[in-house]
Amino acid sequence: MNDPALLDLVLSRRSAAALVEPGPTRAELERVLLAAGAVPDHGLLRPFRFVIAEGEGRARFGDALAKTAAEHRPGMPATGLEKVRAKAFRSPTIVVLIASPKAGKIETWEQNATAACAGYAIVLAAHALGIGAVWKSVPFTKGQALTETLGLAEGEEMLGWIHLGRAAREEELPPRKPLALGEMTSVLDGDGRKPYVVG
Ligand SMILES: Cc1cc2nc3c(=O)[nH]c(=O)nc-3n(C[C@H](O)[C@H](O)[C@H](O)COP(=O)(O)O)c2cc1C
Repeated sequence: MNDPALLDLVLSRRSAAALVEPGPTRAELERVLLAAGAVPDHGLLRPFRFVIAEGEGRARFGDALAKTAAEHRPGMPATGLEKVRAKAFRSPTIVVLIASPKAGKIETWEQNATAACAGYAIVLAAHALGIGAVWKSVPFTKGQALTETLGLAEGEEMLGWIHLGRAAREEELPPRKPLALGEMTSVLDGDGRKPYVVG
């Protein structure tokens, strides 16, 4: 395939700050999630899974986030906990992303990298369908409440969640800093590592 417009799609993706109803339809949601099946995945282990929270399910998720924050910070004031809980209501649909590494010879870090790619596939696929998306998380992602609510098994880990919905407004996002390729790239040749000269 040679379709430069696809690269434009990748380069034009931005996160949405405010997301409102309607959320994606069931068919749209499934197309978006199936994009995760096309990420690089050593051994095709599919080392990730999703929990969808919509409607009242968001309250359950928000409660679990707040309880987990309270587990880690017993002194957190009620207003702080409410702020954490409110994070679950910032869009009509939430896709909680869970890294679910499988036992075997593929290193866990490789599998977690695949799971992170699944998150990117979701936000990119949403963009392709004109659905607003933003990937979010909290400092405290490990605790009894989240484990129970998401059914986390030993070795599984929440990698944050992706909000999906309709972008509430045309956003004026600040342009991204261009990648400083010359600073972050070097070249290894027969003599050793040298700076990469752009262009
Ligand atoms: C795992 C993960 C967690 C994130 N959590 C947050 C978050 O809690 N709050 C936030 O403002 N951005 C968070 N981000 C970054 C946003 O999703 C977004 O990428 C960033 O604001 C840059 O905007 P852009 O996607 O339009 O470039 C997170 C990104 C990742 C990959």
